[in-house]
Amino acid sequence: MIDPSTIEKIIDTAEITEVVQDFITLKKRGVNFIGHCPFHNEKTPSFTVSPAKGIFKCFGCGKGGNAVNFVMEHEHISWVEALKFLAAKYSIEIIEKEVTQEEKQRQDERESMILVTGFACRFFTDCLGNHEEGLAIGMEYLKERGYRRPVIEKFQVGYSPGSWNDLTKEAIKNGYKIEYLKKTGLTIGKGDKLYDRFNGRIIFPVHSVSGKVLAFGARTLKQNKQTAKYLNSPESEIYHKSKVLYGLYFAKQAIVRDDKCYLVEGYTDVLSLHQAGIENVVASSGTALSGDQIRLIKRFTNNITILYDGDEAGLKASLRGIDLILEEGLNVKILMFPEGEDPDSYARKMDSQSFKEYIQKNELDFVLFKTRLLSEEAQNDPVKKAMMINDIVRSVAKIPDRITRMVYIKECAGILDMEEKLLYAESYNIRRKDAEKQLRYKNTDQQGIKPERVSNLQYSLKNTTASERDVHEREIIRLLVNHGTKELFPATEDKQNSVSVSSFIITELDNDELVLSNPIYNLIISECKKMITQNTVLSEKNFANHHDIDISLTAADLLSTSYDISKIWKRKEAHVEVEEDKLKKLVPSTILAYKSFLIRQEMKDTEEKLKKADNEESLLLQKRYMILKNTNVQLAKQLGNRIVS
Ligand code: CTP
Ligand code: MN
Repeated sequence: MIDPSTIEKIIDTAEITEVVQDFITLKKRGVNFIGHCPFHNEKTPSFTVSPAKGIFKCFGCGKGGNAVNFVMEHEHISWVEALKFLAAKYSIEIIEKEVTQEEKQRQDERESMILVTGFACRFFTDCLGNHEEGLAIGMEYLKERGYRRPVIEKFQVGYSPGSWNDLTKEAIKNGYKIEYLKKTGLTIGKGDKLYDRFNGRIIFPVHSVSGKVLAFGARTLKQNKQTAKYLNSPESEIYHKSKVLYGLYFAKQAIVRDDKCYLVEGYTDVLSLHQAGIENVVASSGTALSGDQIRLIKRFTNNITILYDGDEAGLKASLRGIDLILEEGLNVKILMFPEGEDPDSYARKMDSQSFKEYIQKNELDFVLFKTRLLSEEAQNDPVKKAMMINDIVRSVAKIPDRITRMVYIKECAGILDMEEKLLYAESYNIRRKDAEKQLRYKNTDQQGIKPERVSNLQYSLKNTTASERDVHEREIIRLLVNHGTKELFPATEDKQNSVSVSSFIITELDNDELVLSNPIYNLIISECKKMITQNTVLSEKNFANHHDIDISLTAADLLSTSYDISKIWKRKEAHVEVEEDKLKKLVPSTILAYKSFLIRQEMKDTEEKLKKADNEESLLLQKRYMILKNTNVQLAKQLGNRIVS
């Protein structure tokens, strides 16, 4: 962690106009500066920098913030990385603090490993570009495949000589430790001998989002089937395959600019597309995207197009994996290549303009594509058809956004020639079930929490004058603001990350698509999400000093009531000193109580509606009522509550 006083120093020193002017041209306009916004396309400048306030604001796209935020946005890096960037610019020495000995050691180890991979990368590119063997074998091969110097150099493609230990020898000569050569997988030790892992192969370095070399993919030049086509760096302290996307470092600017990301399978596809002028492309390296990889893409765009080069059978097998992308809220399109072609081979067949056009013209919306694909197949088979409909609705149900879901249901109903209402009801059921499952899973998971004070809650609700809903919501937000960073559940073997109060609350609300009724509370929640995704240190201060006056006032209010525990939990004994110790129970039960309240509320509404409903509607309402009731029973059980209304 960076020492807080260093952070302060960096923020104080970084002059907003200086920082911004490293990237864009500014003109003086009164007390401010003005320029073309780097975050969206504009003809007339609406990007304003206020040196007095130390902030930038674009009146076109709405982006705004301080110097650190600007660097984060512009370079697509985390808060810590942005601080380091600015520290380097102003030659501020970064003092790291509060790291345990063990953490420090791991960090040192990571840094040493990255130094080694960086060295190896330079060694390989040098071999490819400047040495006889590399030129004659590696470069010749790449040229034959149509890759030209600029793209080779950009991606730092290299060549590992065919001898058995050239890299290892050279690295040791340059002072790199054998330990790190082994840990990065570059060197393999057999007995007392050391071998290079990748000899005689073309090397594709795999970069982190900020451009550090983490690993390598190494392609053989041999044609025979016995040799593995690729050897890859092993998983290590710096390389987790499922958390990295090949090419992202070189694609991120273009992904943001075009608000779209193309996904391909292999290293060579990425290179070919770049060479054809399409730079917003990343590769999954031959496997289905992991959740981490999807979220990585989501940092830059919500739109992804999968360039698929397999056959239909292969595609059907991978449909389920694509649902995962829908689930993350991305808009997914798919583009099929003609039989036997992949993006790389196809790009080589035509000039880059035609290739670009081909891609733009042939992408299809994934859900509709899947619907058509499956419905053609199931045509006259009712059983197949029922399964297929279920399958499609399952995909649609994954989409987090309600409106998008509804649009899809409408379209799919059209394609399938089915009633929209039915599909909608089905999708609703799936979502409900999923949510319940997660709830159950979570609560058995979390070491048998038995909240104890529900009767108390019931009691105080009856006696409160404020709207009941607001009392619940306020309590949730109060816990968030006061205890957001605190650890709720420690990391376990299965779950590597511990769960903080804030992430618990946010996940709980999101899973059930709960939007709080008070808009300021929602603002606080979305701020909190932002801070979590940006890796910002989340603290009470963030809220109390927030630039949005509504947030800061509400936060200040909630913070000041932190020692005056809200009425819900007030009892004879003083909770004041012990609230922190009770978070494990308090937070989940507060959320559960809120959900239960909402469900009971909806049950009441449904009852009212039932009185006036006609036959058909009444059936749906009754079904809904039963679902609500069952859910409430579940919740009540978890709350340890015997009152079931
Ligand atoms: N891959 C791998 N190990 C293998 C085969 C493939 O790790 N033995 C991964 C690589 O990341 C590769 C991707 O899967 O880039 C796609 O595989 P493939 O299409 O076979 O390779 P390409 O990269 O397209 O290579 P080429 O065009 O040279 O055939
Ligand atoms: Mn391929």
